[in-house]
Amino acid sequence: MDGQKSSPVGTGSELMQHLSPVWTHGTDILVDHAEGAYLYATNGRRYLDFTCGIGVTNTGHCHPRVVAAIQEQAGKIIHAQANIVYHQPMLRLVEELLPVVPAGLDSFFFSNSGAEAVEAAVKLAKHATRRTNVIVFKGSFHGRTHLTMAMTTSKTTYRLNYQPLVPGVFVAPFPYAYAAEGSLRMNKEAVSRYALDELARLFKSQSAPEETACVVIEPVLGEGGYVVPPPGFLAELAAMCREKGVLLVADEIQTGFGRTGTFFAVEHEQVIPDVLIMAKGIASGLPLSGIVTRPDLAARWVPGTHGGTYGGNAIACAAATATVQVMKSERLPENAARMGAVLMAGLQRLQSQHPVIGDVRGLGLMIGVEFTRDGQPDARAAKSAQKNCLEAGLMLLTCGTYDNVLRWIPPLIINEGHVQEALDIFSNALNYT
Ligand SMILES: Cc1ncc(COP(=O)(O)O)c(C=O)c1O
Repeated sequence: MDGQKSSPVGTGSELMQHLSPVWTHGTDILVDHAEGAYLYATNGRRYLDFTCGIGVTNTGHCHPRVVAAIQEQAGKIIHAQANIVYHQPMLRLVEELLPVVPAGLDSFFFSNSGAEAVEAAVKLAKHATRRTNVIVFKGSFHGRTHLTMAMTTSKTTYRLNYQPLVPGVFVAPFPYAYAAEGSLRMNKEAVSRYALDELARLFKSQSAPEETACVVIEPVLGEGGYVVPPPGFLAELAAMCREKGVLLVADEIQTGFGRTGTFFAVEHEQVIPDVLIMAKGIASGLPLSGIVTRPDLAARWVPGTHGGTYGGNAIACAAATATVQVMKSERLPENAARMGAVLMAGLQRLQSQHPVIGDVRGLGLMIGVEFTRDGQPDARAAKSAQKNCLEAGLMLLTCGTYDNVLRWIPPLIINEGHVQEALDIFSNALNYT
């Protein structure tokens, strides 16, 4: 800056125009700092953050123990490259994670973003099985690289003008009961059966088990609309994969780290996947992701066939270790289950008063409120409620193929006071929606 005074980012709009337009912006808020469940803008306004930076800041913004761990590690070593040396933060993180990941999974690979970790999981599955194909579910979101775009079917926006994508990706129906109830007149059990039958048909008609490396599923559909599969579905899916000899990969990027009321969402159905993918909540906001798998599969991943310069960065690992310690000591998954029940009950009360709310569903603090009118998705109502909430100081995101679902992903540290504050704002917002 050759000694000039720093730029006036207090307003900042003249600099904002130099940022790529490819980023959509939900707001034009210029944030100054954040603490716990709140973001503070440079204009002095405070926002209750129920977006968590898209499901990342599960321990709340700037948790003091996470901040201290980052500061301490930054003074020791920032970049300790994983191919060159071992570093203590990564080993400490493994020590913290081993007791919370599903039993029998004990070999970790770390990377930086969610999409990178999905790439790693699929590369491992292909390498270990010497098979080419991947099966995903309708409405899935797995990332924005070429492979993960091919695995993403939640919205065409994510794929527009990037085709052709990586071949060998097949799509099975996700048991989205609310949508099916409307158009197909099916109840939850029938939807679950239908989805499993269609997957079995896919193995017979499009991708034979002997050429299918893995089935990848989000235990709760995220970007696709916050859809919880009917009870029993995941367990039956795991049984089918086992029976066909196809690996099951759980993408827990959004559902992991306490979000759904258990450390990982697969625990709700006692499912043990062959590979579990983690990111987002793992390091309270520092870029870190990873996969964990069984030792026999890890042993088939030939050294040097995958890697990356920054994966498992020392500061990110220190932040993640502190994050997991906070989750354990503050019992955040349990709090997510408790606060999730309070929030869900409040949202269901509002649903009974506002016919525009077609469905309220979720697990723990991963809750979707679907807006419909005459049985059809109503994105306008969802966006209007979102905008009204923002004006009143509550940040929410939308999701779903039709963008008609408001998603509630607060930090897992919230208490009844935060839930009531959010419900009061939302209730008022609905009166003007
Ligand atoms: C389930 C799931 N998988 C993968 C990703 C991609 O993660 P990233 O944006 O860190 O690449 C996301 C991001 O929202 C996600 O929710």
